[in-house]
Amino acid sequence: MSAPTTGDVRAALRDAVSPALRAPSEHNAQPWHWVLADDHLDLEVDPTRRLPFTDERGHGVLLGCGCALHHLRIALADHGWHAEVRHEPDGPAARPLARVRIGPAAGAPDPRTRRLAAAMERRRTDRRRFSAQPVPIEMLQALGDAARPYGGVLHLTVGGQRAVVAEAMREAAEQQREHPGYPAELERWTHRYAGAHDGVPAGARLEEPPPSYRDLVLRWFPRGTLRQPHAGADHQDASALTILTAVDESPVSVLRAGEALSAVLLEATSSGLATTPITQVLEVAETRDRLRYLVGHHPPVVALRIGWPEPFAEPLRPTPRRPLDQVLTEID
Ligand SMILES: Cc1cc2nc3c(=O)[nH]c(=O)nc-3n(C[C@H](O)[C@H](O)[C@H](O)COP(=O)(O)O)c2cc1C
Repeated sequence: MSAPTTGDVRAALRDAVSPALRAPSEHNAQPWHWVLADDHLDLEVDPTRRLPFTDERGHGVLLGCGCALHHLRIALADHGWHAEVRHEPDGPAARPLARVRIGPAAGAPDPRTRRLAAAMERRRTDRRRFSAQPVPIEMLQALGDAARPYGGVLHLTVGGQRAVVAEAMREAAEQQREHPGYPAELERWTHRYAGAHDGVPAGARLEEPPPSYRDLVLRWFPRGTLRQPHAGADHQDASALTILTAVDESPVSVLRAGEALSAVLLEATSSGLATTPITQVLEVAETRDRLRYLVGHHPPVVALRIGWPEPFAEPLRPTPRRPLDQVLTEID
């Protein structure tokens, strides 16, 4: 095959941004911007999409951008391209966060890449009750393997450890509700103006307050329309509660942890599992410290609820995304 032209490379990079828009982000703020210049694609933070009262440290922004970067890698690999990603060391203040260059991959995409690429369209954040069937430990280990290339470690919490995390989640939910600016920010991202293409729509928010499963209390999103699936009276949600850690708290490590999060979510989706990423417990300093103590020397960046969806749960509708021309700038 002849070497790809700059035109081929630019077209491949442009084409890969569309599927990458399906990446999850806190409050569906989509805090990313892509710039296509010469033969490379830059990922930048869109500073107008930060959540200053919810995500004070800016970790949610970096995690969302990391998810988008990993989605982009998968989309490129699925079309026969190998991506070289240079993470920029200085984080959100520096532009860009990462620079992506590509070349033809050595072989055809492997079956795993194909599975993960297909999962990008299907993945949803599911806040409903999950089934009473536990997730086998081997599957959780496979999810942990997916995080490792990006410096992420997925810790399963059980017994007393899980009780500590669950209690911290309950307290974080209470404390954040009282935090000045938090309720208004939540309102802003759950009640968007017409045609906004972002935020958490009513159909992704539960209709009854506040979602609590066994010992877990999730972030409360107001005035939703999403119904719980029907289940027997003795039904118990058997979801696993895991904590993903980063190498350290540098912006590059948190960005890479976002890639790890995406890798875990796509792997879980491709295996038929449902997931809820949760950062609320890590946004309140006191509860964050408790989790940090629990998982050892690497900082926790996101909690992840993983389980089997109820057998007859309605499929969730996709949440909106901004169109390509709002998130991609092309420089000739
Ligand atoms: C870094 C990050 C933090 C998130 N934190 C929470 C959370 O605390 N609670 C929650 O219900 N959803 C959380 N989410 C899920 C987002 O709200 C969700 O990704 C977004 O609304 C888009 O919906 P989708 O994932 O179904 O595409 C988080 C997602 C990311 C990437």
